[in-house]
Amino acid sequence: MNNKELDSFQWGDQVKFPPQIDRGDLESLRFISRKENVILTGSPGTGKTHIATGLGRNACRKGYEVRFYRVADLVDQLEKAWSEGKLQWFRNKFKKVDLVILDEMGYIPFSKDGAELLFQLVTDWYEQKSLIITSNLEFSQWNRIFVDARLTAALVDRVIHHAHILSFTGDSYRVTHALSNYPS
Ligand SMILES: Nc1ncnc2c1ncn2[C@@H]1O[C@H](COP(=O)(O)OP(=O)(O)O)[C@@H](O)[C@H]1O
Ligand SMILES: [Mg+2]
Repeated sequence: MNNKELDSFQWGDQVKFPPQIDRGDLESLRFISRKENVILTGSPGTGKTHIATGLGRNACRKGYEVRFYRVADLVDQLEKAWSEGKLQWFRNKFKKVDLVILDEMGYIPFSKDGAELLFQLVTDWYEQKSLIITSNLEFSQWNRIFVDARLTAALVDRVIHHAHILSFTGDSYRVTHALSNYPS
């Protein structure tokens, strides 16, 4: 993961910014001090995790407290903490955190308990921290992850309030830059 820096990212028209923010705004990390969220959606291999990681690293360099989770791992840890009666302790670990990166929302569906626990955590963080979420799903499909339509709507509502939604389009960078494409 060492090369996942913003400097090594080749920007092109695969990244579509919403009107209120451009690349410079994103790289300035102003969204963190404003406690706004950044949502990166689009097909696999288009650079979402790379950008999320690069932003997270720069945020660390600027002195922000940053945590990075694949969403499925965070939900596993939440369920474990809950079953051991350590949920409050787990939540407290985020007290001083400025930016939480949730990678791969939507790849793996959660159990009902897992979804509830994640929802509670995101509710805790609402307007207190900045989130970067990457997902291969459009919001309209998030009920595939959460099963419960009411919970999905409530979560989407919290996450997209104060959020910049960037969409990633085009072919997978992994596929177009696969080693087999190079002459040997
Ligand atoms: N525009 C780009 N410039 C440089 N490397 C890229 C770019 N897009 C993707 N990559 C690289 O391709 C691979 C897949 O990107 P990744 O960020 O994991 O995609 P996603 O999270 O959207 O599935 C990674 O190794 C990443 O560093
Ligand atoms: Mg990814």
